Amino acid sequence: MKRRDFTKYAFGAIGGTALLQGAMFMGMRGGMAGGMGMAGAGCGGGHRGSRSNPPNTDKRGLLTNEPLFIPQLLTGTDKNRDGVKHFDLEIQKQQHNFYKDYKTNTFGISQSCLGKTILLQNGDKVSINYTNKLDENTTMHGHGMHVPAKMDGGAHQIIKPNETWQAKYTVKQHASTNWYHPHLMGKTAEHVYQGLSGMIIVKDPNENLGLPDTYGEDDIVLIIQDRQFVDHQLDYNPGMRDIMMGYIGDVLITNAGIEPKLDVKAGVIRFRLLNGSNASLYKFSFDDNSEFYQIATDNALLEKKVAMKELVLSPSERAEIIIDFSKKQNKTIKLMCDEQIRGRKYTALSINVSNTQGAIIDINTINNVLNASLQKADSAYVTKVARTRNFVLGGARGSLTINGKSMNMNRIDEKIKLDEVEIWHVKNNMRMHHNFHMHATHFIPYKRNGKTSEVKANEKGYKDCIHIPPGESVDLLVKMTDYTDAQGAYMFHCHFLEHEDAGMMGQFVVVN
Ligand code: C2O
Ligand code: CU
Ligand code: CU
Repeated sequence: MKRRDFTKYAFGAIGGTALLQGAMFMGMRGGMAGGMGMAGAGCGGGHRGSRSNPPNTDKRGLLTNEPLFIPQLLTGTDKNRDGVKHFDLEIQKQQHNFYKDYKTNTFGISQSCLGKTILLQNGDKVSINYTNKLDENTTMHGHGMHVPAKMDGGAHQIIKPNETWQAKYTVKQHASTNWYHPHLMGKTAEHVYQGLSGMIIVKDPNENLGLPDTYGEDDIVLIIQDRQFVDHQLDYNPGMRDIMMGYIGDVLITNAGIEPKLDVKAGVIRFRLLNGSNASLYKFSFDDNSEFYQIATDNALLEKKVAMKELVLSPSERAEIIIDFSKKQNKTIKLMCDEQIRGRKYTALSINVSNTQGAIIDINTINNVLNASLQKADSAYVTKVARTRNFVLGGARGSLTINGKSMNMNRIDEKIKLDEVEIWHVKNNMRMHHNFHMHATHFIPYKRNGKTSEVKANEKGYKDCIHIPPGESVDLLVKMTDYTDAQGAYMFHCHFLEHEDAGMMGQFVVVN
């Protein structure tokens, strides 16, 4: 579909818009430009450093090198004084400044693009209200959240226009970096593409201690995506080839900005990376070849930090990394991002290290604060496997399947017994990349291609999504520990969003 119906969109808060109300876009596309001077890729409601004046643009007119947009951190309010932390979020039609001289129509969550960051503490009782101000149905799923099926925000929890849906639950999981995004049948890819994604940080008072955790200063969320613009608009219009190969753009955006810059102190910095793209495989590295350490995978801190110079994330995977900039005063270091499927190299972030000293942490002691219990859980699981389930990812010509079946909301594919350990053997039977995500819980990657030795060091932890290259397989250790509900379905699927929307998804319930 083409999003060119500009008259439906009101102008956002940009300077001097009054004159233009009504003239709408027609006159602007030619060259409204110059006088507007409203530059700034920030999504509103968050904070950024100072921007250059005049703003930088690339040859396409895209704003570049703006200060990294840091989404506002929401901690919730106990507005009813009942011990429940409330969050109110609005899913809105918006406009965002990707270009200096043009507004791009977007969807945003209480801001012009992407969503505010939700901070939860393990043990909190929370309620998150999502109000849908779009003209169409959507949903809002807490990806990585360990919650009852009815609070999952999956395809079943539809939010109609002008309605509010509430996710209400007790947080019951490790410190981790999760995220939220729509999950409407057949529309997930488009809604995410329009801008609907936000971060959820879970903290645990017993974990995480001693790691950088000052949000926006030494603890930085990075939502990495790519987009393709047609006439300055996000034109989500996949053809058959895009559905199969994935909708991959040619502009990388980091927190909805292009090659943004970030000022940090000369100390240890933590980045929470999310591959928020529809279908891209990103390989991250630093341009000076710096070593960094992965400390957390999708759903929890790792048992041990993993030293690395390159990190690959498939869609929806997260990684927390730390890097020591204490000896890089007055240097600019670039976080690079190589898109592996189409083969494009981008700068994801320019980091200017100041000469002010930041928090110094002895990297050698980091393991003391990570997840020492993980290995025990892992080996305990392996001795108790009750069954193996097989999943084959396949399909052709725009219809994709798991075990030969396309997603059907009226069909429950698997019934999982509470507290039993299972192996989920997932085989990618195609010559394209896929990954595998499950709701409700996390898993432990046990084997790749039948071998425990092929599981990478940075995957030996609690994950909810795993990359499966063409022709390869994974074995995952799975255990459902809560929330039996024979009527409440959770989903499992490929998180390449075009594949998910084309049917590569199934449903399970957790039963006694
Ligand atoms: Cu990121 Cu089924 O979800
Ligand atoms: Cu999910
Ligand atoms: Cu896929």
